[in-house]
Amino acid sequence: MDRNLALEVVRITEAAAIACARYMGRGDEKAADQAAVDAMRLAFNDIPIDGTVVIGEGERDEAPMLFIGEKVGSGEGPPLDIALDPLEGTTICANGGPNALSVIAMAEQGSFLHSPDTYMDKIAVGPAGKGIIDLDKSPTENLKLLAEAKGCRVDELTVIILYRPRHEALIHEVRRAGARIKLISDGDVAAAIATTKLETGIHMMLGIGGSPEGVLAAAALRCVGGEMQGRLKPRNQQEVERAQAMGIKDMDKKYSIEELAGGEVMFAATGVTDGDYLNGIHFSADGATSQSIVMRSKTRTIRVINATHHFAFKPGF
Ligand code: FBP
Repeated sequence: MDRNLALEVVRITEAAAIACARYMGRGDEKAADQAAVDAMRLAFNDIPIDGTVVIGEGERDEAPMLFIGEKVGSGEGPPLDIALDPLEGTTICANGGPNALSVIAMAEQGSFLHSPDTYMDKIAVGPAGKGIIDLDKSPTENLKLLAEAKGCRVDELTVIILYRPRHEALIHEVRRAGARIKLISDGDVAAAIATTKLETGIHMMLGIGGSPEGVLAAAALRCVGGEMQGRLKPRNQQEVERAQAMGIKDMDKKYSIEELAGGEVMFAATGVTDGDYLNGIHFSADGATSQSIVMRSKTRTIRVINATHHFAFKPGF
């Protein structure tokens, strides 16, 4: 993968983030998502790749744009698989909450898990937990192991968890283990990424969230040497059948980070709303500022890109 591509890709997440940020706090999830999808789809046309969406807005019959299997990019350049979420955290954006992102990951063909749109049980940690944590171990054990690896106490660790009734027992156990908890309303891609940056004060992500989001998070963590594991959690028989139709045979399989997002991976995300890792879009009279991260697993270089956009030079904005 050409390294310059990473800087091209961030233009796409910037465009999507700016488009949907206009809907921040306006209570209209659909409009926010649509704005992000339209902007991302359009921006892809300028990128010199032969891309195929493998994690996208849904199946072809339910998503008119950026659906699974859709070809994106100019068609020239390398054939790549694309995992994307034009607006990760639609409710967050609609409510003006923290940590909504626009996200794209790219890899050589066949490198991403072709994940159905179901749930996934996940554990994610930064590089200190590489080779240490295990989804089959209890949260208590994983916290002890991570504390040992980091040379700190369990009560100095903070775990981020989606605030859902399904996580009641998990939250109870983490509290009993003595760790601190940050409960979030949505946005577990941002949550997983937050474990990789010291300043966020977040050390582990646990719990069940979307499985496509699991692949996106794994791509990000691959780029920084973090660790993640996941296991599909279909909610009903229909989701089991959908997973089987996508080639998944063993529904209980524990996926390693490389099985979720293998090979050479590139990841870009732009903040839509202010968050733990990235600032969101801030508008001014004639433009906007954005903050993005771009990373590649090959070099593990993490670029944080602060951009000032002048709309006079960007028709359509
Ligand atoms: P959307 O952007 O699709 O709304 O996803 C937001 C999100 O919070 C994800 O970050 C998370 O993986 C998933 O929803 C959790 O699903 P649920 O809201 O059903 O618990």
